[in-house]
Amino acid sequence: MTESPVLPLTRTCPYAPPAEHVQLQQEPVARVTLPDGSQAWALSRLEDIRAMLADPRFSSDRQREGFPLQPPGPRPAPPRQPMIGLDPPEHGEARRAVLGEFTIRRMNALRPRIQQIVDEHVDGLLAGPRPADLVSALALPVPSLVICELLGVPYADHDFFQTRSANLLDRTIPAEKRYAAANEIREYMATLIIQKEKQPTDDLIGRQIAKGADREDLAGLGFLLLLAGHETTGNMISLGVMTLLERPSALAALKQDPAVTPEVVEELLRYFTIAEYVTSRVAREDVEIGGVVIPAGDGVITLGNVANRDPAAFADGDTFDIGRGARHHIAFGFGPHQCLGQNLARVELQIVFDTLFARIPDLRLATTTDELSFKDESTVYGLHSLPVTW
Ligand code: HEM
Repeated sequence: MTESPVLPLTRTCPYAPPAEHVQLQQEPVARVTLPDGSQAWALSRLEDIRAMLADPRFSSDRQREGFPLQPPGPRPAPPRQPMIGLDPPEHGEARRAVLGEFTIRRMNALRPRIQQIVDEHVDGLLAGPRPADLVSALALPVPSLVICELLGVPYADHDFFQTRSANLLDRTIPAEKRYAAANEIREYMATLIIQKEKQPTDDLIGRQIAKGADREDLAGLGFLLLLAGHETTGNMISLGVMTLLERPSALAALKQDPAVTPEVVEELLRYFTIAEYVTSRVAREDVEIGGVVIPAGDGVITLGNVANRDPAAFADGDTFDIGRGARHHIAFGFGPHQCLGQNLARVELQIVFDTLFARIPDLRLATTTDELSFKDESTVYGLHSLPVTW
């Protein structure tokens, strides 16, 4: 490839990676240009991305020189980054402190409460006007409520953290405003922690306080979990509903047999790979990946959406196929930083799809996909709204 494309790129078809990403696949370890004119590497083979994400010689430290796709300008330095930006050994320590909160067993125990929350929102949808916006009526509030209850954050504050989260992820917003949004959520968390220190609560934050967690670290953790816990899953709910409403045979299979739902969820996660630029890294030393030496200090971007269609791992990857067995996808990342909330996200998505399509069997889109507004500006892909009727 002679020309080096400028990343990040946006999708032209909601169901496919940007065309330039697909071209980059011709050169699996490719040079790319970033908006500030600097250069980085883009990986598009599943095998190479896995090798890179599992290799401790690549750093997750967003404050390290060369880390790609960070908002431009001087970065405010918080005392310590949350786990997503930490390297060993600090990363392992931070992750182990909360790992027990997110086991499959713990998430399954949450099923009855999540079911109740989903049912209440479907009740609300059915009682409201038609057409309705599925994003504001269900896709965003359900995971927001679930993560709020888990953390012990008052859901009444959802407008505050939802708008700040969206601003933080919006690449078109000036860097100062994005950093300000992050700081506001952190400060909000710090205040909440002080309240919980005075009046202990039995929730994730309360339990971390009881274990003697550092207040600043806990504010960072609460911030990360609140952000990661609602925005990502909310986007997958709305994209999933859109996709299933457009694919009657997949939807019929899901309605007929609940055992199919987990397969549908995995295929949706693979097909959209909504958080692909999130798994960027910077090389701490010279490392060979896919036959190319990545020099120390160079940034590496993973094209997860393309890799999740890599012919070596997924036959006919551009096709949405609920029977393919997609579980080896990297939509939740790979290696030590692999998504901590993946079990929760899976349970939420399964319950939402099963409940929504069972309770509103004639649900349909109230518009065409051409008219939908997608989150092209966001680090996490999704839909701004999804008009549905029944
Ligand atoms: C990490 C995607 C839901 C919490 C990640 C990473 C990805 C991802 C790609 C890896 C980042 C990296 O390697 O740098 C997703 C998707 C979700 C989802 C697609 C929904 C469909 C959630 C939920 C939570 C959560 C519901 C919280 C309850 C986290 C945390 C990390 C993480 C804490 C950092 C883990 C670490 O650094 O060790 N997520 N996520 N995520 N996710 Fe998720």
